[in-house]
Amino acid sequence: MLITRRVEFSASHSCYSPQLSEEENRALYGESAGSRGHGHNYVLEVTLEGEPDPLTGMIFDLKRLKHVVNREVVEPMDHRHLNHEVPPFDRVIPTAENLVREIWRRLEPHLRLPNGRLHTLRLYETSDLYVDYAGEDA
Ligand code: NI
Repeated sequence: MLITRRVEFSASHSCYSPQLSEEENRALYGESAGSRGHGHNYVLEVTLEGEPDPLTGMIFDLKRLKHVVNREVVEPMDHRHLNHEVPPFDRVIPTAENLVREIWRRLEPHLRLPNGRLHTLRLYETSDLYVDYAGEDA
């Protein structure tokens, strides 16, 4: 069984690869390449897989899930400039792909459940662009 919680946060980023020329960066990332950056209202869907505990009827306490996601993701990232304020994005380009991988790294250790696990993250950068991630070996 899968259960999903959705949260939102707003953050700014700029996408720029130091290995590419100014021109290549512009061509690849467009306006995102500027150092000032721009904001997104990110939507994160956290999906757990597991069996409901016979005692509680739940895979995981959803209040606790909300607390973990707030502590590990929303509080450190909301209203931040990712490149300047949220490691490792001083070194790693904060594309949606890299961002979802970092969010997985932050959440997964807290979601090893007796009867379940973190199954997938879906991160929307815009309403028509999202990335799904299910861990390194997926
Ligand atoms: Ni962007």
